[in-house]
Amino acid sequence: VSIHVLNGPNLNLLGRREPDVYGRFTLADIETRLRARAAALSASMGTTIELTFAQTNIEGELVTLVQNAGLAGAGVILNAGAYTHTSIALRDAISGAQALAIEVHLSNVHAREQFRHHSMIAAVAHGVIAGFGAASYDLALEAIVPLLQERAG
Ligand code: DQA
Repeated sequence: VSIHVLNGPNLNLLGRREPDVYGRFTLADIETRLRARAAALSASMGTTIELTFAQTNIEGELVTLVQNAGLAGAGVILNAGAYTHTSIALRDAISGAQALAIEVHLSNVHAREQFRHHSMIAAVAHGVIAGFGAASYDLALEAIVPLLQERAG
């Protein structure tokens, strides 16, 4: 199964950015950790998990990345950063390309400012994982693999 891990604006600053909210992991640390997790899961679930990582600060680029993943039949683990709360275009990309997507957040957005409580993309995502720091990505990976296996039949 193929999974694209897509990260939106400001996530390139992880590790330096508000570490009390987002933790001390960098995005590269998260990638390393997730690749190790994918290797272990590949063995235990009897499948080959192919991970692709990307980060962009640009909304339209994130739209294209989501479209490409969806059209290729890849699953999407998506931390859209602040575009989560604003981007109708991102929502349309998920539904338009029929992407199987899991929305993830490092922080528990519901315990934060009111403007972070609403997600434009949650309704077209398969599910949402928030509040577990870097482990939010691990949990999303564990959740998406069986869904993709099921879909592949
Ligand atoms: C975030 C939460 C968003 O509200 C915020 O804009 C981010 C990061 C998270 O991972 O907790 O950039 O998506």
